[in-house]
Amino acid sequence: MAEGSRDGEFIKPGKIIELDKKHIFRQPFRPFIIDSAKGSIISDAYGKKYIDLVGGLYGAVAVGWQRKEVISAMAAQMKKLSFAPEKTPSEACSRLAEELSGILDCKLTKFLRAVSGSEAADLAIKAARSYTGKKTIISTLNAYHGQTYGGVSFESDKRYDAKYGPLVPKILKIPFPYEYRGVTAEQSLGAIKKAMREKNDVGAIIMEPVQGSGAISSSREYFKELREVCDGKGVLLIFDEVITGFGRLGSKFAYQHYGIVPDIVILGKAISSGYAPIATTAMDEDIASKFDAYGNISTFGWNPICAAAASANLGVIIKERLWLEAKRNGKYFLARARERLNHDIVGEIRGTGLFIGIELVKDNASMTPDPDLARSALRRCIENGVYISKGGPLNNTLIITPPLVIDKRQIDRSIEIIGRSIIQASSKGLSKNNINW
Ligand SMILES: Cc1ncc(COP(=O)(O)O)c(C=O)c1O
Repeated sequence: MAEGSRDGEFIKPGKIIELDKKHIFRQPFRPFIIDSAKGSIISDAYGKKYIDLVGGLYGAVAVGWQRKEVISAMAAQMKKLSFAPEKTPSEACSRLAEELSGILDCKLTKFLRAVSGSEAADLAIKAARSYTGKKTIISTLNAYHGQTYGGVSFESDKRYDAKYGPLVPKILKIPFPYEYRGVTAEQSLGAIKKAMREKNDVGAIIMEPVQGSGAISSSREYFKELREVCDGKGVLLIFDEVITGFGRLGSKFAYQHYGIVPDIVILGKAISSGYAPIATTAMDEDIASKFDAYGNISTFGWNPICAAAASANLGVIIKERLWLEAKRNGKYFLARARERLNHDIVGEIRGTGLFIGIELVKDNASMTPDPDLARSALRRCIENGVYISKGGPLNNTLIITPPLVIDKRQIDRSIEIIGRSIIQASSKGLSKNNINW
């Protein structure tokens, strides 16, 4: 029996898949079982190793897998106090709040306690509506803010309206810049200004500084002007930094990279590097003063074990200055990928820090998106030993968000495997089957 397994029966890969299919909702389902992981390397249930270019899920595992600093802090907290009642302070939470306020290094010093990024996004809207008294929220097309009703209401996926509607009302979606496909920063800002002119009850705008779906972003100038537009109209700017927070772009937070300070910041994933479910919504004293604390009652929000995990994780990020690693290695990855993946079917390689997208097309002249190629390339990458994800508005972009501790050797090897996989996928293709890779 494997260490840590309750019953030898459960470690058989076939059995895991059978039970998962029988009992668990999973979309899309991948017959790929991560069994263990260390650093930037994950191992499947057959012992095969892969370079983790996903960071668990969209960059969650920032400090790398199996960090003893985080594990031992969690174990110590578990032994001391595993749960704290909602109404009472705990050492783990107070410490985390102080550390978060230090690393955020701006006016955002008050925190709502959440378990997931989705919940934190909902809390941001509660805070914005209660502060401004205005109900309309602007979000962006191709956004992802999670799976609560608020989260799905901000997104542009029509399936949600049809299946789960009615969604949260008074949400207006505007285009986010996507220069490669002709959506400019001016168009996006124009749509925001128009919405603010036409509706007199816009209270906030929520956006990901880099859209996770496609690794799409814009310039410093765009965000600076956005900040000015919001200030001019008294509209709160909410940055969803669930993916970009804690170093991914080469700065501690995306708002520093873009040279602005948002009014509310949503943080999740890398806040604990995936070691424990914890998230937060950060705001200043003024916004917090209008928030009714009854809106943040939670059984598990900032559970002390999760708070201890987050504290230890922040300790590693700061001690190892991982945002600088992301900056250095991100630059290296981009340069190397542009040099080595110079094929006609690679439309654009874009990114900031260790948040990189590789958009695949039929050919560079037509720029026709090729989602089938992306799907096949992803499958080939996994077969060849690189765990990678894909997405984007046209579902044709390979997305790279590795642990921030990935090293140059692993980057070189990954790019070599991605190149080989793309070529294999484009020359041989894959027979269609019902596995949605
Ligand atoms: C930008 C962004 N916001 C919110 C979420 C939702 O976070 P969670 O899955 O923890 O609910 C995600 C998840 O991927 C995300 O990428």
